[in-house]
Amino acid sequence: MTASRKHPDSPISQLLLEWYGAHARDLPWRIAPGSADRADPYRVWLSEVMLQQTTVAAVKPYYSRFVEMWPTVEALASADEADVMSAWAGLGYYSRARNLVKCAAQVSARGGFPDTEAELRKLPGIGDYTAAAIAAIAFGRRAVVVDANVERVVARLFAIDEVLPKARPAIRAATDAITPAERSGDFAQGLMDLGSSICTARAPKCLLCPLSVRCEGLRSGEPELLPVKPANKAKPLRKGSAFWIERGQGEAREVWLVQREGTGMLGGMRALPDDDWSAKSDGTGIAPVKGDWDELGAVSHTFTHAHLTLSVKRARDAPVPSGEGMWWPVLQISEAGLPTLFAKAARLAIAGDEEP
Ligand code: ADE
Repeated sequence: MTASRKHPDSPISQLLLEWYGAHARDLPWRIAPGSADRADPYRVWLSEVMLQQTTVAAVKPYYSRFVEMWPTVEALASADEADVMSAWAGLGYYSRARNLVKCAAQVSARGGFPDTEAELRKLPGIGDYTAAAIAAIAFGRRAVVVDANVERVVARLFAIDEVLPKARPAIRAATDAITPAERSGDFAQGLMDLGSSICTARAPKCLLCPLSVRCEGLRSGEPELLPVKPANKAKPLRKGSAFWIERGQGEAREVWLVQREGTGMLGGMRALPDDDWSAKSDGTGIAPVKGDWDELGAVSHTFTHAHLTLSVKRARDAPVPSGEGMWWPVLQISEAGLPTLFAKAARLAIAGDEEP
């Protein structure tokens, strides 16, 4: 490393873009830093929607499966919504998958993605962050892209010590001030990579940081305390029950699955019948049909707004509840597209059989 590359007078964007050129993560939706090619807007959009509130490690296998099954936005637009929901199962925040299908239909109908933030923001499931990320990364537009990693890096760089979310306007203005006119997509992804590898929430590796010479947070002594997070609100503890209704034996054994209604929690996803629990209230504990229920134990799952303990009960040859549903072969339960909570419940029901 030459002295000039870390010169304190170099613009932050230059220091960061140089670092990104050498250290960019090789991610399947990316093109090489500084490449003259443009990233495919479909792939950028798909990855950015998947990466909302979700880690890169969790997204990678889903992203690969999606582009294999639906290589273009037109292919996704003509997909069966149930197949898309099922391919999304396990990734969480299922409204994203519902919006994905709607958005693909609109984009396909208008002949491609719009290339401005304002137009992108009009599409289902595309908010300020995602519109800025697509405009910058796929269309080379200058846009200010602030996700949680960027927020942390910038709060430290400028020692912004207001508590979140009040600090957001200042963080955004500071990000705007350092975003270059050219390569703002690479710049944003460079900040994201720096935030995930060096400017980490705990124990940042400031000695390795290309921006340390310009970092006011480092100079103030305790960069790891920034940004200031509000005290965690305790999540309520909810209780609910799920019901495993089965028929048949051996390879012919089947379980009754329902299609959850609406756009609320896990709406549109396949599931076990339950007792109407929600993030706001406990379930009734009452089975939707009469049956000779065995208690199999409970599974736990944490949602954005609540922790849930779900008791799992099993009955053989009980009547099935009214509403949409289907018999599903137990041996193929892993292909049912169950969201994580119900996949845990299914594992409990199946594990119970394997005991001597
Ligand atoms: N998180 C959100 N978008 C990302 C991207 N393009 N690269 C890495 N991490 C991200």
